[in-house]
Amino acid sequence: MRKRLIVSAAAGALALLLTVPAAAAPGGPGAAGIGDTYYPYAGNGGYNVSHYDIRLKYQPATDQLEGTATILATTTQDLTRFNLDFVLGVQEVLVNGRTAAFASTGESELQITPARPLAKGSPVTVVVRYADKPGEVERGGYSAWLRTPDGGVAANEPESAAWWYPSNDHPTDKATFDVSVLVPDGTQAISNGILTGQSSRAGWTRYNWRQTKPQATYLATLAIGKFDIRTDTTPGGLPVVTAYSKDLGDNDGAARASVERTGELVDWLSTYFGAYPFDSIGGYVPNVPTGYALETQTQIFYSPAQFARGSNTSTVVHELAHQWYGDSVSVQRWSDIWLNEGFARYAQWLWSEHENEGTAQELADYIYSYYPADNAFWTVKPGDPGPDHQFAGAVYDRGAVAVQALRNAVGDEKFFRILKGWPTERRFGNASIPQFQAYAERISGKPLGELFNTWLFTDSKPALSSAGVPAAPAAGAAASALAPSAKAQPQEPKSWKKIQETNSIHDSRH
Ligand code: TRP
Ligand code: ZN
Repeated sequence: MRKRLIVSAAAGALALLLTVPAAAAPGGPGAAGIGDTYYPYAGNGGYNVSHYDIRLKYQPATDQLEGTATILATTTQDLTRFNLDFVLGVQEVLVNGRTAAFASTGESELQITPARPLAKGSPVTVVVRYADKPGEVERGGYSAWLRTPDGGVAANEPESAAWWYPSNDHPTDKATFDVSVLVPDGTQAISNGILTGQSSRAGWTRYNWRQTKPQATYLATLAIGKFDIRTDTTPGGLPVVTAYSKDLGDNDGAARASVERTGELVDWLSTYFGAYPFDSIGGYVPNVPTGYALETQTQIFYSPAQFARGSNTSTVVHELAHQWYGDSVSVQRWSDIWLNEGFARYAQWLWSEHENEGTAQELADYIYSYYPADNAFWTVKPGDPGPDHQFAGAVYDRGAVAVQALRNAVGDEKFFRILKGWPTERRFGNASIPQFQAYAERISGKPLGELFNTWLFTDSKPALSSAGVPAAPAAGAAASALAPSAKAQPQEPKSWKKIQETNSIHDSRH
């Protein structure tokens, strides 16, 4: 306890001894990372965020982004200092209304020293005022802000937040979001959740977006450009928001023919995964040169190139599956990425089965036989791929073979109970692969250690006699169009270099 002696001038020589409450404990600095071995600087120690209020102004012509982020958090330890993850230039920081000292480091850390130390368990309001050109801010030669001819997009994994708002950038610290963006009239701004309002004045239009359910920081998205925004509801009453760049050219029809089926596909997936967890769903297609999609929460990011060969409902199914596996139930550590990608890819296989384009078993057989034992594909352990292979093809395809192996080991009845029960039990939380294994063992009543070890944690091609292994490859089971080698390989712009090994995510049509 720190004590202060205050001399009251009005009372002459009367001295009052005041005890400043709990906040006086000195504590120390919060850690610069949350403890994720893949990304030591991801997230921070010492507090949890409950809400982000992000108020922005963006000028597409100059890439000038100005913002005020108001962050509501609660401390988890006494703090003399704490960090946010952020790369843009900061003008001012307030903590609980008082000006705070701040410094930016090369590791994307914004160090904040409040005027007064913070006591464990107290609510904290942090205001960060900033301005920068996010497309020009690079870390390791890379910017997560992807500029387009009409604006820009923040959609990247594992990080993109730091290029548009300061945060505790790790999936374990979820929060609700209000994002309000001022853009020149004729330009639109898109973020997560529901568009709660839109108003114009003096040549600028403000778009207000609201995410009412807990959202991981990398699943927050911002897109600015010229969009056609559509709002609708599913037969079940779920709001659907879709948006298409006005410059999709020849891909416009196929993009709409895919993404406009979102409502139907989310209903179909609910029959496997249980009730849809969020308050809206949708997707947007900006005019980016990339070839990826990202499961940004309730407002999915798609690339035009994914629709270059006609409609692609398989990718829509993949990203929608992530709303359960990845968004509602998020990784505990980035090494748990199989819980996202293995199941999103498996959902595509279920869709293929539904569409009579090959059963999940046939696709598993196909993947198994496609890669010979000496192919580097088998050296990646989907259960712990390492940061350099986090999005390797093996995490998706071998990862989905692992799901099929589980299905074969426990039988359809138990398997589909697991598939639906897990996102229900873990809704809005975080979980690890060992926790999933324990859950599958509990539901199936079978020990699954050997199966998980074989399919997720071994750096070589499993033998066909392995536990729960898919049946022997059926000749001609999968059409040649499914061959990974036959897939389009869209150009990979420099700013997206983080994904280097993603053959199978460029077009996850199978
Ligand atoms: N999670 C994305 C998917 O499978 C793939 C992905 C990984 C990605 N890293 C990315 C997409 C970076 C865009 C940017 O759907
Ligand atoms: Zn995915």
